[in-house]
Amino acid sequence: MTSPLEVIETPRLLLRATDVAMAASVAAYLLRNRAAHAPWNPPMDDRMFTAEGQAERLDAAVRHEADGSQIGWWMFLRHDSAAVMGHVRLSQVARGPFCSAMLGYAIDAAHEGRGLMREALVAVLADAFGARVNLHRVQANARPENVRSLGLLDRLGFEREGLAREYLFIDGAWRDHVMTAKRHPRWPAHQAPGQR
Ligand SMILES: CC(C)(COP(=O)(O)OP(=O)(O)OC[C@H]1O[C@@H](n2cnc3c(N)ncnc32)[C@H](O)[C@@H]1OP(=O)(O)O)[C@@H](O)C(=O)NCCC(=O)NCCS
Repeated sequence: MTSPLEVIETPRLLLRATDVAMAASVAAYLLRNRAAHAPWNPPMDDRMFTAEGQAERLDAAVRHEADGSQIGWWMFLRHDSAAVMGHVRLSQVARGPFCSAMLGYAIDAAHEGRGLMREALVAVLADAFGARVNLHRVQANARPENVRSLGLLDRLGFEREGLAREYLFIDGAWRDHVMTAKRHPRWPAHQAPGQR
């Protein structure tokens, strides 16, 4: 079981673990970015853009974070920490000989191009590969057209491993995705998971 961590601080950001009290702010962030995120993320039910719908979704996320199957972070600017302005989520956290998770992320379009997602992901990956979470592999998949996301993954040291055909239903069709992964930087090849 992963020990709880409520907040990660970076030079410009606070990354907060999921709390149902964020529901209205999360709904507002998703609504503001509904059109901007639509080409890259699976469609969401209208209810997900309401505080009530998000309260239910965040309640489920809190339970997933408590049982260790997900690790979710909501991004806030340090100098203006009232509004959610991005998110990062490790899902499908697997243990045993896999020790892997799937990475997802998005930022408010108003804050794109400032290096803030890179700053968040550097911190989340340090935690994911650190003593607390201790994953061996983090996987991230993006549409070939998503050059911003693939460029970011390249800069973070994710390696391209292949193309998953018709991987996700997004924006009205089944979309191919480039599969990428980053491995733990210092995990010896013959060291078993339980020995770390
Ligand atoms: C993908 C996404 C998270 C990338 O966000 P981003 O802000 O471009 O990513 P970064 O934090 O790495 O910022 C990089 C940009 O900031 C610039 N930058 C400015 N200051 C910087 C700094 N201090 N450090 C690093 N980069 C900086 C870089 O030059 C780069 O600009 P460029 O793209 O014009 O070359 C964002 O486009 C997004 O949310 N898209 C919609 C959802 C989505 O696609 N999610 C991923 C699905 S796979």
